[in-house]
Amino acid sequence: METAQAQRPTTQDSAASFTVEPQSPTIGAFIHGLDLSQTLDDATIDALRQALVQWKVIFFRDQHISTDEHIAFAQRFGELEVHPLTPADQDQPEILRIAHNKDKRGTENFWHSDVTWRPQPSLGSILRAVKLPDVGGDTLWADMEAAYQGLSDELKERLDGLQAQHSFLKGFGHLIPEEQHEGVLAKHPPQNHPVVRTHPESGHKSLYVNIAFTTHIVDMDPKESKALLKDLMRTASTPEYQVRLRWQPGTIAFWDNRSSQHYAASDYWPHTRVMDRVTVAGEKPF
Ligand SMILES: [Fe+2]
Repeated sequence: METAQAQRPTTQDSAASFTVEPQSPTIGAFIHGLDLSQTLDDATIDALRQALVQWKVIFFRDQHISTDEHIAFAQRFGELEVHPLTPADQDQPEILRIAHNKDKRGTENFWHSDVTWRPQPSLGSILRAVKLPDVGGDTLWADMEAAYQGLSDELKERLDGLQAQHSFLKGFGHLIPEEQHEGVLAKHPPQNHPVVRTHPESGHKSLYVNIAFTTHIVDMDPKESKALLKDLMRTASTPEYQVRLRWQPGTIAFWDNRSSQHYAASDYWPHTRVMDRVTVAGEKPF
């Protein structure tokens, strides 16, 4: 298995006043020394963006920020996105509240990147812990650049130029009454994206199919497509490509949705877990 070069354990960025503490050789790093309730200078935001691209998900501890501060921080990284199919708070539609309790079990426990069924899936999301169970409810991320790197040269060549189709209905169809499926599909038709996408900032390639939304590889025999997708999708389950975050009050995670997948462990039922997500809009994958 090939992995990217490991970085030094903790680095001080010369342009910014924070330190980076990697949690694995290629994915996940804690950022220390910043107060996200403050307005950070442009150099710090630039350095954070670089850290995000490099580590695919960055974590912050002890950030007891308000909803307005959460939104303001996210706005520094681009235009915000409102989830088109999830009821939003009328006053603050940028906030996607993800709440589970004894009456509503966690449903995000499958590997995926967000909204790949949209023409322009999100750049990334910033998730803030609002209420946590005493234990459990961790989130895991998988490095899909490392997953691509780990493929054989032969398979990489086979994937070159392939497109796959992504549909909202695959992952979330069961949450919507069947008679509404047609209407949702008309508004959000399935989208084709490259099976291997190129990161617009780093130029790195990553595997861009996921269990939640990818239905098939375009122009491929269905049986062959199914077998190939199964092999590609299970790479996200490889521990060597993963990082796992144990949330604490005040923890924030910011992931790059272009190069990673995530999985919310739903092991805490019947306890309550409430998170707020703010999402930065992305671009068409290429
Ligand atoms: Fe998600």
